[in-house]
Amino acid sequence: MRFPPSFLDEIRARVPVSSVVGHTVQWDRKKTNAGRGDYWACCPFHHEKTPSFHADDRRGRYHCFGCKASGDIFRFMTEKQGLSFPEAVQRLASDAGLQMPEMTPEDVAREQRRSTLYDVMELAAQFFEGKLQSSDGAAARGYLADRGLTAGVQQGFRIGYAPAGRNHLKSYLVDKGVTGEQLVESGLLVTGEGIAVPYDRFRDRIMFPIRDGRGRVIAFGGRAMSGDVPAKYLNSPDTTLFHKGSVLYNIDQARAHAHECGTVIAVEGYMDVIAMTRAGLANSVAPLGTALTADQLTLMWRLAPDPVLCFDGDAAGLKAAYRALDLALQHLKPGQSLRFSLMPEDCDPDDLLREKGTEALRAIVADADPLVDVLWRRALAENDRQTPEDRARFEVDLEHMIRQIEDGKVRTHYKAEISSRIRALWTGSAAPRNRRQIVARSMQLTRQSREHRQRFAGKRPWDTAMPASPQLKAFARGSTTATASERRERLIILSVINHPELLAGSAEQFSEVEFAIRELDSIRREILDIAALHEGLDSAGLRHHLSERNKAASLAKIETQAERLNSWHVKSDAAFEDVRTGFEHMIALHRKNVTLERELRAAELALAETSSEENLLHLNQIREELRSNLGEEATIEGFGEASGRPTDTLG
Ligand code: UTP
Ligand code: MN
Repeated sequence: MRFPPSFLDEIRARVPVSSVVGHTVQWDRKKTNAGRGDYWACCPFHHEKTPSFHADDRRGRYHCFGCKASGDIFRFMTEKQGLSFPEAVQRLASDAGLQMPEMTPEDVAREQRRSTLYDVMELAAQFFEGKLQSSDGAAARGYLADRGLTAGVQQGFRIGYAPAGRNHLKSYLVDKGVTGEQLVESGLLVTGEGIAVPYDRFRDRIMFPIRDGRGRVIAFGGRAMSGDVPAKYLNSPDTTLFHKGSVLYNIDQARAHAHECGTVIAVEGYMDVIAMTRAGLANSVAPLGTALTADQLTLMWRLAPDPVLCFDGDAAGLKAAYRALDLALQHLKPGQSLRFSLMPEDCDPDDLLREKGTEALRAIVADADPLVDVLWRRALAENDRQTPEDRARFEVDLEHMIRQIEDGKVRTHYKAEISSRIRALWTGSAAPRNRRQIVARSMQLTRQSREHRQRFAGKRPWDTAMPASPQLKAFARGSTTATASERRERLIILSVINHPELLAGSAEQFSEVEFAIRELDSIRREILDIAALHEGLDSAGLRHHLSERNKAASLAKIETQAERLNSWHVKSDAAFEDVRTGFEHMIALHRKNVTLERELRAAELALAETSSEENLLHLNQIREELRSNLGEEATIEGFGEASGRPTDTLG
């Protein structure tokens, strides 16, 4: 129903926002200045201890500086009290002592049609839920059980089953008195030209009801249970109730959790939302099989200022993330952005939960990158930087993206940030052409393979023209920065966690080793601290203490990453003798590498400043040494025998 804007204004003029909000919050006496119409309280939309929620009677609006919730009296009644808009108008009009305006007969008819259509969708949802529990639903129940969805989860999402056959739902609804016209409007039947008798759209599919912000069923998604059906998922067509591009799956249930934890997560599909929820991240939503739209972004920003996009770890997921980034640029505001966390290669959240468990999934989400990083990395991946023209193009590309940002303040900060990154990238290249020649010769001299060059910590991005795809892949795995030494740092940590006995003899080495990765170094320090407080801890005990210190997510991340490295000698079932040999060897190598890498950077700088033959030789010597150091990881005599492995490799 439409209300005349003048009527809404009249209500706003009569009902101060402080009185509407004041039923829900306790005003902060110290901060509030009622005389000026300024009211402050702890925000009713998220958890906080100090008031950052402001109601402004003069403007008739509220705004939270913490979670960015904002709106007028109507918005408050719909978002906080859960009223529909017409209900809110009615309630507030009566507070204001105003008569509701007369509705035209067409208004009344439209309202009625809409509300009965909700009833039809609700009936359908109940029908599908019932069928899932019936004998027809046996195979569907088996399918859901195989996918790890318990009865509780099924009920939570109101999952159902549409039986095979063309008339089951139709007859059920007709029996309930639903008219032919309503059936057509509901989108539940296949109708149209050339179809004499409309029939059930969803047949032999697992049914996911799609709910609106207030929990009313407005559409369905149906999943086929076997692979040989043309469409894996079938969704309701757009109807009076359902507009695919402006709906997010699970938004009704995600809202409260999002307000609670201050963030919201977008994943790609129904099953991903469910996986997230199972992992304790109930603040998750999904678009419905299409790229994220501006409407959907706006919906998410209403829930939280900095939503996380968590798309599949494949080319399509990366593309979807980039599209969302392009779309978001325009709408960035001070404090309003997006973050991105990409799943491991060829994984979606549901796969990851099944394969690696809750902690791994949570770790990936916690590790989301800010938008500026993704923008930067994409520009790196998509542009060569070999020639001056390439480098200019790279800069133009970035400038173009920054120009999309409409908010002046945000744009200014992006400009500054990106310029400084560009400067840092070109640093040491006061004369890039000259430098490039030198590096080219150096490569000729040492005949280093591309693989080797890429492993050098000190390499400059323009030394090698990298084709886009491996970089994109590396990005998708989130491992663009994983160097040999980072990998070693992880393995050292894991050795100690799986075998805390190491600390008995080697605590000193462990306390003195320099870690470059901040997250890993922080775990290292926590471990030392825990070990000092609790003597003789075993692995389980150590893990327990780490998780008490909020390191569970980091730990899970290390383990997931280490899983890919196949390093048996840090695992809990390896023989202690091998573990210790491996540990000591890794520490020794690490020390040497840290020193060498430091020398390498100095040598590169020296060469950039003075391009003498002598400096070049020195640089190459260090590179040579670093390379042999890499090779050395693979050769320790007798290693692995105690674990029942014939001489094996370390790494
Ligand atoms: P996915 O193919 O990633 O499916 O599509 P999924 O969510 O991982 O589901 P499972 O694990 O294979 O069962 C992601 C989303 O794209 C839409 C659906 O909304 C789906 O959840 N989609 C997918 C369609 O609309 N039609 C399709 O044929 C496939
Ligand atoms: Mn998927």
